[in-house]
Amino acid sequence: MSFNPVELTTRKRDGEKLSAEEISWFITEYTNGTIPDYQMSAMLMAIYFQGMSTAETAAMTDVMLHSGSVLNLRDIDKPKIDKHSTGGIGDKTSIILVPLLACFDIAVPMIAGRGLGHTGGTIDKLEAIPGFQAELGEPRFKELLGTIGAALISQGKGLCPADKKLYGLRDVSGTVPAIPLIVSSIMSKKLAEDIDGLVLDVKFGSGAFMKTVKEAKALAKAMVSTGKHAGRHVVAVLTDMSQPLGRAVGNANEINECVEFLRRGPQDPAIDKRLYDCTMSLAVEMLILGRRQMGKRLKPKDAKKELEEMLLSGRPYSKFLEMVSLQGGDTVALDSGLPVAKVKKTLKAKKAGYIRAMDAQAIGMVVVDLGGGRKAASDSIDHSVGLEFERFIGDHLQKGEDIVKIYANSETVARSALEQLQEVIVVSPQKKSAPKLVRERIV
Ligand code: URA
Repeated sequence: MSFNPVELTTRKRDGEKLSAEEISWFITEYTNGTIPDYQMSAMLMAIYFQGMSTAETAAMTDVMLHSGSVLNLRDIDKPKIDKHSTGGIGDKTSIILVPLLACFDIAVPMIAGRGLGHTGGTIDKLEAIPGFQAELGEPRFKELLGTIGAALISQGKGLCPADKKLYGLRDVSGTVPAIPLIVSSIMSKKLAEDIDGLVLDVKFGSGAFMKTVKEAKALAKAMVSTGKHAGRHVVAVLTDMSQPLGRAVGNANEINECVEFLRRGPQDPAIDKRLYDCTMSLAVEMLILGRRQMGKRLKPKDAKKELEEMLLSGRPYSKFLEMVSLQGGDTVALDSGLPVAKVKKTLKAKKAGYIRAMDAQAIGMVVVDLGGGRKAASDSIDHSVGLEFERFIGDHLQKGEDIVKIYANSETVARSALEQLQEVIVVSPQKKSAPKLVRERIV
């Protein structure tokens, strides 16, 4: 059956619902190259403004899931549990969670993304490690999952090609933050992974695609119900993204922060507490889901204790090095700290007071402007640039104290980053408490 793309877009623009057949046709023709980017961009913008019903979102997820091959991980005799974040600034938890959970005989078949809009991408960060190969074929991916339980790869050509194409187009057409588009993008990829369980980190706040808890909750509910409908155990955790997660924002420097986390283990004062708490709350959910798949019940506090003991043992860091090495990465370079850009500038407090707010989305764009992210789909990334935060919302500052360091590759770009950061970090005399990190759990 064939439809007229202009007519379908016009109907969506005017608030009508499209049938599963119409959605399936539009996405399939776009993936095959019959519908051009400009028509798809118009449709995405219509969806952005008009939304989609549950049935439309389910149809969109289904056509994207079946646009390519679906993994078959049945031969891997371990619970297969993954985690996915809706994206944020400095969000590096995946890189820590994969080796940590793999130490519990859980396979984490993580297929991660590249930067999208103002948010960083796990794959871009990992590619800061010299030699790291994110594009493993399916046989090698399965081999790593079966042996070491950990592999962190990018979405190959075969898996959800519709999402791969749409993801790039959304990134450069201002259509990322639409609930049905995020649900279908994330859930099609996760369902194609043949997982038993999934933990979703749904972010809200200035650095998230969902700015309010209400929107994040709607997104979380939509994803949990799509996952359950497909017969998977899915848990969503709503977490704060009103400021960067952890000290580092960039690529190489975020990897260095993950290495420090895995090396130093729990309760080390050098590890950012919010990064630690967010990672552990997701790890607890993943471990509980993994044990459930093994027919065992685990209480959250016992899960946390086991995870902390595991971090203290140092095994997760060894597992990370093993995974990186098996994916072609230079572990000597990784272990000695990846180099960061040489031009350094520091934003200092102009007056005493409390950090009241940060525009985390603007902070993400500062990193994009430094060269650490993309403005066009074809842009390459400078892994060495980034930011290093010393202070966060709720902290009291004396005049002249350091807030954030900039690592750039030119004086001009560094100066412009300094000016932009000055505008987006608000310091005022009124006391402000740090935002609550984990807001709610949705099952
Ligand atoms: N992550 C994804 O994979 N897709 C989105 O749309 C947003 C975040």
